[in-house]
Amino acid sequence: MKIAVIKEVRQGENRVALSPSVSQQLIKAGYEVWVEPSSGYNSNFDDAAYERAGCKLVAKSQLLAEADIVVKVNAPDKQEIESMRQGMVLISYLYAGFNQELVQQLANKKVSVFSMDAIPRISRAQNMDALSSQANLAGYKAVILGAAQLTKIFPLLMTAAGTVTPSRVLIYGAGVAGLQAVATAKRLGAIVEVTDVRPETKEQVESLGGKFIEVKTDEAAKVEGGYAKEVSAEYLAKQKEAVNKSLFQADLVITTALVMGKKAPILITEEQVKQMKLGSVIVDMAVEQGGNCALSELDKTVVKNGVTLIGIGNLPSTLATNASELYAKNIQNLLNHLATKEGFKWELEEEITKGTLITHQGNILTRN
Ligand code: NAI
Repeated sequence: MKIAVIKEVRQGENRVALSPSVSQQLIKAGYEVWVEPSSGYNSNFDDAAYERAGCKLVAKSQLLAEADIVVKVNAPDKQEIESMRQGMVLISYLYAGFNQELVQQLANKKVSVFSMDAIPRISRAQNMDALSSQANLAGYKAVILGAAQLTKIFPLLMTAAGTVTPSRVLIYGAGVAGLQAVATAKRLGAIVEVTDVRPETKEQVESLGGKFIEVKTDEAAKVEGGYAKEVSAEYLAKQKEAVNKSLFQADLVITTALVMGKKAPILITEEQVKQMKLGSVIVDMAVEQGGNCALSELDKTVVKNGVTLIGIGNLPSTLATNASELYAKNIQNLLNHLATKEGFKWELEEEITKGTLITHQGNILTRN
């Protein structure tokens, strides 16, 4: 089977779906890998590296017309779908729930799409979970960006000229990104506090050396398929009360709170920002889903009331080399599960296939 890698067209996207090393392993396993020239350039994989791995450099129009499997990072655009061969397989992020028109167009084209954002959160699918592999890197980068923006250092420093107190970091959400942010901020020497609606995260935060802020309530956040469900307005008010002291003392705030399929909850209002310390920084990792802070702006760094708000939408793209390597491994693991070099197994009732296969043989199987 021929696997095709095409260059990402989304603005600001530096990642590529397959790295040269994963391509080489796929070729060893019996696949052919075709690559559009310069696809990996922004991830620092040049065309020569793909050629050394055994890939063939092929023009995009030929790839889309002749490949068996197209692998991508971002959802394809209308033009790309238009050029796809009927019956081919696409593996990429799709966010089907937000991209119904593309899903319909893919079904009309009889393209079978496995969506990387729909991998079920079960143990045996962990090595295919691109949301986690990318969130992990993003959590790291959020701390680094925030630290670089501060006019203070993170660790306690005792010098002949006096003692420098450590920076205080507050993290909203202890999922994959949040926990990596805790670990990174701790490694740099900050005092780290964390809030999350899932009580089980307390132990995870503490094991990394962070302090978990308890919200005094009987309401426990419901979790479905590994994702937190929306909590009540009453809960959010109590959370605010519990967190405000830490928020107003924080030097760096990182927000990662997401609720599956919904706009991100607003956890920091304009009023709260006004009470934050002069020179403090918020990195809003939920900015693409509307933001956890009312004042953050997508793909902009803005200063409001002396607080710097960093709202980079695509943080994994800023670490494109590692992000592409991990994404490529996720794709390889999914492919190993779904197919052999002879073809796809099409076990439509199997859990991972059922979760990720959005369109098949002209039908829309799921709209989530
Ligand atoms: P996510 O990206 O969906 O959400 C981020 C965090 O925000 C979550 O921890 C959530 O509880 C929290 N949150 C939601 N509303 C909040 C609020 N009002 N205030 C504070 N925090 C709030 O979460 P992510 O990182 O994708 O992971 C969630 C869980 O799923 C983790 O326990 C993770 O280990 C698990 N997981 C399991 C996988 C597997 O077994 N294959 C793969 C990926 C995640």
